[in-house]
Formats: sequence, structure tokens, C-alpha cells
Amino acid sequence: MITVAQVLANDPLTSAFARIQAEIDSAFDAFLPVPPDGRARLVEAMRHAAIGGGKRVRPLLLAATAELFGVARTAAVNAGCAVEAIHCYSLIHDDLPCMDDDALRHGKPTVHKAFDEATAVLAGDSLHALAFDILTQPDTSTDPFVRAELVACLARASGHEGMAGGQMMDMMAEDAAYDLAQVTRLQQLKTGALLAASVEMGAILGRVPPEGRGPLRAYARDIGLAFQIADDLLDVEGDAGLAGKALRKDAGAGKATFVTLMGPDKARQQAEMLVEQAAAHLSGFGEEAALLQALARFIAERDR
Ligand code: IPE
Ligand code: IPE
Ligand code: MG
Ligand code: MG
Ligand code: MG
Repeated sequence: MITVAQVLANDPLTSAFARIQAEIDSAFDAFLPVPPDGRARLVEAMRHAAIGGGKRVRPLLLAATAELFGVARTAAVNAGCAVEAIHCYSLIHDDLPCMDDDALRHGKPTVHKAFDEATAVLAGDSLHALAFDILTQPDTSTDPFVRAELVACLARASGHEGMAGGQMMDMMAEDAAYDLAQVTRLQQLKTGALLAASVEMGAILGRVPPEGRGPLRAYARDIGLAFQIADDLLDVEGDAGLAGKALRKDAGAGKATFVTLMGPDKARQQAEMLVEQAAAHLSGFGEEAALLQALARFIAERDR
């Protein structure tokens, strides 16, 4: 995941990724001991999906935002683990035969391939539940009001007003012939909502009142779109080995994406413009926001 050149360059974003990846892996490991009974298969499947592999963009967004406000690391890692649990559940279900029917994720067989479909459905359900369990633990915040706000934020970003709503629009996309405005709406729900929730939850842990979250929300909206443009570009021109998943699926499925609607060059320009716009929203934070700035660039220019 990290190149030798980046390690030698001692790049702060690379170290930040390496740190959060290790923290999220060990948090999932601690949250998911394998029980000595008939549930072992379920928990093995959850571990297969949640441990190792993912970039952990959402937990890093959350932790980098929380850092701006001096939040304790354990709290940020726990909340990041909750968002990542939702993300992993969404990928398990997204890969099922009834959705994208994919065999490879994070360079490994998808959960329904490594286990079976029923186990994959239950592993997704259980990661969904685990996310909210983590958010209600005192280790995440000692303040019950903060915990409730975290739960509300993640719930809204996950369900019909967020990720699942976007997935529904995505399933309809083949027949719906969406235009650019509709694709933008779809993507804001499908991927933008959880990315935005990651930033928002960092601010919630930092006790930033809603009226003070404007620049962070604007940043999150821009990187959410840039993230999906990058995903669509990767689908067309990425390296499946690096991505660890099947690519070249959107065009075959006849789905309108940013790339099919704008063409790759214009899509790249748009992503670049969104990164600059995202950076400008954070100008008030100065150097403190360097990690979020670097993350915005990574999100738009990533090769996996
Ligand atoms: C991939 O998300 C699926 C989308 C939401 C488009 P990520 O690129 O963040 O997935 P990881 O890093 O493999 O977990
Ligand atoms: C998946 O989108 C988005 C969610 C699971 C919310 P895609 O179907 O485009 O993601 P990949 O390409 O399989 O990672
Ligand atoms: Mg999909
Ligand atoms: Mg998919
Ligand atoms: Mg995709």
C-alpha cells in the first residue's frame, strides 16, 4: 500500500496512513474475538472483511479532523472504527451477487466467496450493528450527549438519507440514464455521506457546535465528489492489481458516471478543482490542517 519512495521521503501523510491502519486493525481485532460456538463462522467473516486491506480513508479523515481540536486519540480511533465498520459492511453487501457480483475485494476473495452468501449478509448486518455499539461506549466519549450526536450523525449517513439511499440510486442507474445532476446526487449519498460523516464526527468529538462546522462541511462535500470522480477514473483506467478489486465494470453495466458523462480529462480537471476548493475552505486553520489538505490531494489523485 505504501511505496518505498514514500517511506524514504518520510512523508507525513504516509506515516499518518500507516499509523491509522495499524490502529484500526488492532481495534477491530479487539472488538471481534472469535467465540467458541456456532457464531465463530460469522465473526471470522467479519474479521475477513474488516481487518487488513482497506486504505482507512474515513478513519484518517475523522482522526485528522479530531486532531485539530485536541481530541484524545483513543476516542478518534474508536469513532473511526465505527465509520469503517459501516464502510466494510457496505462493501460486503455491495459485492454480493444481487448487487455488483464481485469476487475480489482488498486483494482477497469477497466474503460471500470466502464463506457463503448467508454468512456475508449476516457479517454485513453485524458490522452495521457493531458500529453503533462502539459509538455508545464510554471509551469513545464520556459524554452521553456527544455519544448520541455521533450515533445520529452516522445513522443518517448510513441509511436511506445516505449510503444505502445512494446504493439504491446506483442500482437503478443502468435503466435510469441519469444526468450530471442526478449522478452528483447519487454519489453524494453513496460515498459522500460517509466521508462527510467522518469529518463531522471529528468535529463532534471536538465539541465544535454545528454553527462552527461550515468550513469543515464544505471541505467534506468537495472531497466527497473528488473521491468518487477518482473511483470512476480508476474504474476506467486503474490497475486492478493495485486496486485489489475488479475494474472496468461501470461502462459494461451501462452506468452513467462522472467519467462517462464528462470524459476522463474533464473529470480529472474537475477533481483537481475540487481539491483546490477543499483546501481553500480550510485556510482559516492554517498549517494545523496540513494533513487534511494532503488527504484531499491523495483522495483525488489516488491510484487505488
Ligand atoms: C471504495 O471505497 C468503495 C467506494 C465507496 C467507492 P474505498 O476506496 O475507500 O475502499 P477501501 O479503501 O478499499 O476500503
Ligand atoms: C460502492 O460503490 C459504494 C458502497 C459500498 C457504498 P462501488 O460499487 O462503485 O464500489 P467498488 O467499485 O465496488 O469498490
Ligand atoms: Mg456498487
Ligand atoms: Mg461495487
Ligand atoms: Mg466503483
